[in-house]
Amino acid sequence: MKTYKIPTIAGDGVGPEIMAEGKKVLQAAGERYGFDIEWKDYPYGAEHYLRTGELISEDALKELGKYPAIYLGSVGDARVPPGVLERGVLFALRFYFDQYINLRPIRLLEGVETPIRDKGPDDINYVVVRENSEDLYIGVGGRAMRGSVRREGEVIRNLYNVKFGLDIDSDSDEIAYQVGLISAEGTSRVMRYAFDLATRRREHVSSVDKMNAMTEIYGFWREIFAQVAADYPDVKTDYNLVDAMTMWLVKNPEWFDVVVAPNLFGDIITDLGAMVQGGLGLAPGGNINPEGTSMFEPIHGSAPKYKGLNKVNPIATIWAGAMLLDSLGETQASSGVLSAIECNLRACKVRTFDLGGHATTSDVGNDITKHLQESVG
Ligand code: IPM
Ligand code: MG
Repeated sequence: MKTYKIPTIAGDGVGPEIMAEGKKVLQAAGERYGFDIEWKDYPYGAEHYLRTGELISEDALKELGKYPAIYLGSVGDARVPPGVLERGVLFALRFYFDQYINLRPIRLLEGVETPIRDKGPDDINYVVVRENSEDLYIGVGGRAMRGSVRREGEVIRNLYNVKFGLDIDSDSDEIAYQVGLISAEGTSRVMRYAFDLATRRREHVSSVDKMNAMTEIYGFWREIFAQVAADYPDVKTDYNLVDAMTMWLVKNPEWFDVVVAPNLFGDIITDLGAMVQGGLGLAPGGNINPEGTSMFEPIHGSAPKYKGLNKVNPIATIWAGAMLLDSLGETQASSGVLSAIECNLRACKVRTFDLGGHATTSDVGNDITKHLQESVG
């Protein structure tokens, strides 16, 4: 029997609880579809950082790089200043493995209520392809007090290296600055991915930007979008300013098929999308490097106030697990997991509090496992 070795990072807060259910369901998928999974658990996150001072080491990254897919819970903990774990663990993984696609399906499954009146599963079914390595997320920025100072920054990627030198001469009390960057290579590859995806769906790609206010960076984005679109004459396209986009995604979600967005706007509109698809407890995501090591996670955070209560919804994590199986080529097992999630939701019986139920995290994991085991075909 085929055995997959899958590294897991449960992380912080509710991470370990939701991850336990994800592993349970994927294991059952293996039994049902004929493969074995060997899990390799890694301790990265707040606990490990507070105990050892280590975020994630180069050696660990190298080791993780031997696998095609990582399964991640969530990172973030109130005992660690905001940004430290996010940058030191989450972005370290996303950037080290050049996971330049953040794939976030926004789909209203049957049996789930959306807060948008008169919209149903047929109206809410699009995928956000969020660029995942550039934009305002490159980590170049700082603060400067009154006076003159020289600062340097760099962006090291597989595709390119960029060094910035900044001479600051300021008579403000204090300034803070953050540099955004998009590259021709980085932008066109994410767009090609979006267009390829659209050819397997409803052949429509919508671009998101803010080129009326940030003309350099997002004007460039639009230019590259137009260039790539020219190679896909059958795919319908449109441009959307991000503020208007938040409006359309609520008013007319049925307009959208594949939405391609720069990193920051992609972050924002996928939380909106998560709410539209029934809440953060249902929204999965994949950080994808089609040629390298990808990583699958729920898009929600570590929800520290629910830690250890066996209360939160594990479906986002289980769905992310289905995406992971798909990336391994286990397409049947992947659809099997998604169908089992759909059975659980349609039955409206075993559900966590966010969906109006009283079941626990593990009840939901067990119920989905049961549906998977009982499925035929
Ligand atoms: C996400 C999250 C992260 C991001 C945070 C935790 C840094 O919001 O994955 O959407 O902004 O990318
Ligand atoms: Mg986010």
